[in-house]
Amino acid sequence: MFYTMFFLIRHRCHISDLFQRWFFIFVITPRRLERSTCQRMKYTFLFIITIVLFACNNHGTDTKMLQADIDSLQNKLDNSYKPGLGEFMSNIQLHHTKLWFAGQNQNWKLADFEINEIKETIANIKEYCPDRVEVKSIGIIDPAIDSISNAVHSGNSSQFKNSYVLLTTTCNNCHQSTEHSFNVIKIPDSPPFSDQDFKKK
Ligand code: HEC
Repeated sequence: MFYTMFFLIRHRCHISDLFQRWFFIFVITPRRLERSTCQRMKYTFLFIITIVLFACNNHGTDTKMLQADIDSLQNKLDNSYKPGLGEFMSNIQLHHTKLWFAGQNQNWKLADFEINEIKETIANIKEYCPDRVEVKSIGIIDPAIDSISNAVHSGNSSQFKNSYVLLTTTCNNCHQSTEHSFNVIKIPDSPPFSDQDFKKK
């Protein structure tokens, strides 16, 4: 019996193998030899212990394999590419420029789209750049975004212009307070791309 337990643990036998052995030793053999009830109980007890040891041994192996998988995935995640704050800012710059030409053309649907792109990028900054101390100040842009959003929804050109000036000033205020005052944002002179039509259709 002890040899069977030792064999199972060392060689990690399949459970059906174990059952066949148990069936032979404890059901067929005892009947043939007419072993006492006491002996049968003893063997059944040993069988249960074997199962428990087998299960524990197997469980330990599974846990180790799962941990190795988690470690490898964590490693991949840590080394995967994440855009930096500067890249997100360049993206905001693009939508800030397009927003101006959309508003100038009273293309309110496009203007609304550009505002949402800026909002999405701000949400990404909060999610992907939490380690940058400057990100704590990002909320200062919210009132300017709300103001230009109202102008666009009401289709008010003069309110759009005032709100755009406020938005641009807010960009620069944050650059100044985060020691990036050399990044100066202004109202754009010409559309960023020649392949996009800003006129309302
Ligand atoms: C949190 C305050 C904050 C606000 C609000 C903010 N910026 Fe920035 N911006 C920064 C910081 C910090 C950097 C420097 C990022 C870096 O280290 O690469 C930056 C960099 C930039 C850059 C230079 C990117 C490059 O790599 O060339 C541009 C362009 C820019 N911002 C545009 C804007 C515009 C447009 C707005 C407003 C719509 C704006 N930013 C609002 C903090 C801010």
